[in-house]
Amino acid sequence: MKTSAVILAAGYGTRMKSELPKVMHTLLGRPLIDWAVRAVEPLTATPPVVVVGHGQELVRAFLGERAIYAEQHELLGTGHAVLQALPLLTTVDAVLVTYADMPLLTSVTLRRLLDLYAAHQHDPTLALAMLTFTRDNPQGFGRIVRGPDGNVTAIVEEVDCTPAQLQIRELNPGVYCFDATWLRRNLPAVPRSAKGEYYLTDLVAMAVTQGCLIVTADAPLDDVYGVNNRVHLAEAETILRRRVAERHMLAGVTLIDPATTYIEDTVEIGADTTVWPGCVLRGATIIGQQCTIGPYSQIVDSVLADGCRAVYSVLEHARMDAHAEIGPFGHLRKGAHLGERVHMGNFGEVKDSYLGPGAKMGHFSYIGNAEVGANVNIGAGTITCNYDGVHKSKTVIGDNAFIGSDTMLVAPVVVGEGARTGAGAVVTHDVPAHATVYGVPARLRADSAPTSE
Ligand code: UD1
Ligand code: CA
Repeated sequence: MKTSAVILAAGYGTRMKSELPKVMHTLLGRPLIDWAVRAVEPLTATPPVVVVGHGQELVRAFLGERAIYAEQHELLGTGHAVLQALPLLTTVDAVLVTYADMPLLTSVTLRRLLDLYAAHQHDPTLALAMLTFTRDNPQGFGRIVRGPDGNVTAIVEEVDCTPAQLQIRELNPGVYCFDATWLRRNLPAVPRSAKGEYYLTDLVAMAVTQGCLIVTADAPLDDVYGVNNRVHLAEAETILRRRVAERHMLAGVTLIDPATTYIEDTVEIGADTTVWPGCVLRGATIIGQQCTIGPYSQIVDSVLADGCRAVYSVLEHARMDAHAEIGPFGHLRKGAHLGERVHMGNFGEVKDSYLGPGAKMGHFSYIGNAEVGANVNIGAGTITCNYDGVHKSKTVIGDNAFIGSDTMLVAPVVVGEGARTGAGAVVTHDVPAHATVYGVPARLRADSAPTSE
């Protein structure tokens, strides 16, 4: 069965009250359209057809080649939207249609719908398979009307419902799998509604009139959440975060308070790691086993090996090797790499630098464009002065060096292995291994014994 997916994403999203098209609003770090596309991607061999209209430049720029585009110039309803996609669907047997504002739909649920369709595909009267769901508050959804025999007879939009129909609790999530031939024949015949729109949902009553078969399956409530305004967006986010949190907890991660922990679904966390409240874990972050994260740490696109600790800290595009620790109030910026067992205490910032195994940087320091050897001690207030206003320059510190408190390392500069700098030294020249320098500008202490290499 050759199946293509169509995702409707052309609408204004008026109720979002936003300059941004609705489908580009972010949910757990990714735009709504991304969730919709990801849900269908595993199910079809070809990229989905995304129907674009309002704000289409942004949607096209974001999705690029992950989709094929059909343009809807005038927004005349969901039926009209699918009609724009038809010319791109000439060779398929079945057409899966979803709406881009239903970001919680999972591939698992969509797969169930396709399986249901496939189970009936040899019935020549089959027109479509669709999902329905039941919930106490039906507001905002089309109602599923069934006849005395229990078969679906129509989907009625809320604005068109009779008082009795408004009471119906079985609702339309807007997820259908159509027989492609039937769809091609009938979609152009959908009538214009009182509102002036062509409703995709009217196809159901048309199928019934023709004596065609419609099969339905229940969708889990958590899957069918339509985002029409920002209250819905926040609620959808809560559902998604809980889904992600549960996955981690069941895989052995302790989340002290899932409700106050923000974890994007791209993040990986090892077993027996504990995440304290107030943490934000984003993007391509990978955290090892037995780590302690937080309270209150933000970690973006970073990799932490086993046994790390990050307390009240911010990490971006950084790396920590096993048993390294940071915080409270540390900041690892792009290209920061802490070696094994590195200890970074409060108010330190590291950027584009490697700190070798066992290095210690307890308090108030900035290390940028530097290579720091193993077991180096970086005294409080140390700064690599790596930027002269035009160029960035590198600082190299050898193994076991001791950098005194408040040392300014004016790059480019090399501090040799085992060398020492005195408190307050302003180091403007390379320091030989095992030598001691002090003062401003720093000079060699006569009784220190530099080894010449
Ligand atoms: C639609 C369904 C309703 C269902 C609900 C589920 C119809 C007529 N109604 O109502 O039965 O319960 O979804 O959430 O289908 N769109 C276009 N072009 C258009 C109009 C809409 O691409 O001309 C897109 C929108 O961008 C959106 C989706 O279609 O992604 C649904 O449109 P929306 O206006 O939100 O429909 P609902 O009123 O929610
Ligand atoms: Ca909607």
